[in-house]
Amino acid sequence: MARILPVFATQFIVLSLLSSFALILVQGEDDHDFDEAMDRDLLGLKKEKLSHFKLYWHDIVSGKNPSSIGVVKSPVNSSTLFGFVSMIDDPLTEKPELSSKLLGRAQGFYASASQQEVGLLMAMNFHFIQGKYNGSTITVLGRNPVFNKVREMPVIGGSGLFRFARGYVEARTHTFTASTGDAIVEYNAYVLHY
Ligand SMILES: *[C@@H]1O[C@H](CO)[C@@H](O)[C@H](O)[C@H]1NC(C)=O
Ligand SMILES: *[C@@H]1O[C@H](CO)[C@@H](O)[C@H](O)[C@H]1NC(C)=O
Repeated sequence: MARILPVFATQFIVLSLLSSFALILVQGEDDHDFDEAMDRDLLGLKKEKLSHFKLYWHDIVSGKNPSSIGVVKSPVNSSTLFGFVSMIDDPLTEKPELSSKLLGRAQGFYASASQQEVGLLMAMNFHFIQGKYNGSTITVLGRNPVFNKVREMPVIGGSGLFRFARGYVEARTHTFTASTGDAIVEYNAYVLHY
């Protein structure tokens, strides 16, 4: 009897060790179904470069074909139009003139998000349509206090040639026509991408 018990005990220990190894193996395989370390060369990510783009952003609210339409009115009596939302599909051109070369469009919305001054939340994709950038986008998400001379907003990402993009834009009002509400804004974008 005294010799049978240790044999049982050893078998039990070996069995339970084996089953816990099996559990670890199964869990390990599960992890690899959705998560793996990757070599960045496989995505063609070689050297990060810095590009500067200068664009003119046309916010056309007047006339028969506005590129910017108010979709939500400010529900309160606010001097900063707090709560106002406008959807945009604004032309991005090479020169301040709308008739100059169309480089792309700024699509998204801006919303009045400040009660102290006119401070907009800008959420827009710059969709480029020229040359090698045709079809690529960068995403700008930031705070735009429109009466400041220079407004800086982050570039938080991109697609196509702008995968993994990050950077910032500087916006400067070129022309604001008070009678119509139309604005032309110079955007300088500084973007790190591959
Ligand atoms: C809106 O607010 C302004 C100043 O705060 C006030 O003079 C005006 O009477 C208000 N208008 C309405 C409709 O409440
Ligand atoms: C940009 O791409 C679109 C869709 O692929 C194509 O129709 C258009 O001709 C291209 N434009 C330029 C300037 O290459």
